[in-house]
Amino acid sequence: MPEAVKIHIHDLHKSFGSKVVLDGVNVDVVPAESLVIIGGSGTGKSVLLKHIIGLLKPDSGTVEVDGQAVEKLGNRQITEFRRKFGMAFQEGALFDSMTVWQNVAFPLQRLTKMSRGEIGDRVEECLTMVRLEGVGEKLPSQLSGGMRRRVGFARAVAHQPEILLFDEPTTGLDPITTALIDEVILDLSDRLKTTSVTITHDMESAFRIGDRIAMLHQGKIIAEAPPEEFRRLDDPRVQQFIHGRADGPLSEETPARGPRDSKDETGSTNEGEPAGAGARELERS
Ligand SMILES: Nc1ncnc2c1ncn2[C@@H]1O[C@H](COP(=O)(O)OP(=O)(O)O)[C@@H](O)[C@H]1O
Ligand SMILES: [Mg+2]
Repeated sequence: MPEAVKIHIHDLHKSFGSKVVLDGVNVDVVPAESLVIIGGSGTGKSVLLKHIIGLLKPDSGTVEVDGQAVEKLGNRQITEFRRKFGMAFQEGALFDSMTVWQNVAFPLQRLTKMSRGEIGDRVEECLTMVRLEGVGEKLPSQLSGGMRRRVGFARAVAHQPEILLFDEPTTGLDPITTALIDEVILDLSDRLKTTSVTITHDMESAFRIGDRIAMLHQGKIIAEAPPEEFRRLDDPRVQQFIHGRADGPLSEETPARGPRDSKDETGSTNEGEPAGAGARELERS
């Protein structure tokens, strides 16, 4: 009997105009697993994540969640389908006119039958979890970028979804807050058996939270292994990325390190995102 698969991605291809972004991605995620996806900026990590919840449709290939082909879902079905998910995408995803409290309460009001009192308790619990107790009445614009990111995270996990998708949940956060968010992700997968897919640039985070790490490069998953094994992989591209070295095969190939040439049109911007582990290391030295 094959092991149960929660998310099955098979030979996924996606281009925008003449630009090939995903060129045959194959990866599976099993229930309660935490998969981390790493890769340079602009390699298509966010595009891949958006296929999992049907925000983008494959040119060819398939994404199945619980055996259901996402690209085949109609409008009505997709709304139902998305209840399974909690997502924290890159910044800007909060409702600006709602308070922090209202932002976190929103999925609970929409997706659950919880009473007002239960919702109140759960919102407090989630805000405490990300150390934001007491900011419920503030508007997102009154918070720092790092705090907004934590609100987005609290909102994603509030309704205890089966699957969590995190797009760089800790980019721009200090190391302590990063460790805190990592702890929450770990706890969710251990305690609630939540399946999660997390994109990160932060190798420390990747090794901490991943049951498995996969590296996306030039449209394909070029390496995939549990953390300790991943660390020891021979592939020079993996080693360059892990160690954030300026010189190596990734630097010669671009586009992973090339200039940004186009913008994400789906509304989630990549602004403020570091250019990759390699580039970040360069900035430090
Ligand atoms: N909706 C879109 N329309 C056109 N190009 C897009 C769209 N979304 C992403 N891209 C392009 O696809 C490539 C991969 O983007 P993305 O997945 O955001 O990279 P990253 O790995 O940094 O998350 C980039 O070149 C980006 O500009
Ligand atoms: Mg991205």
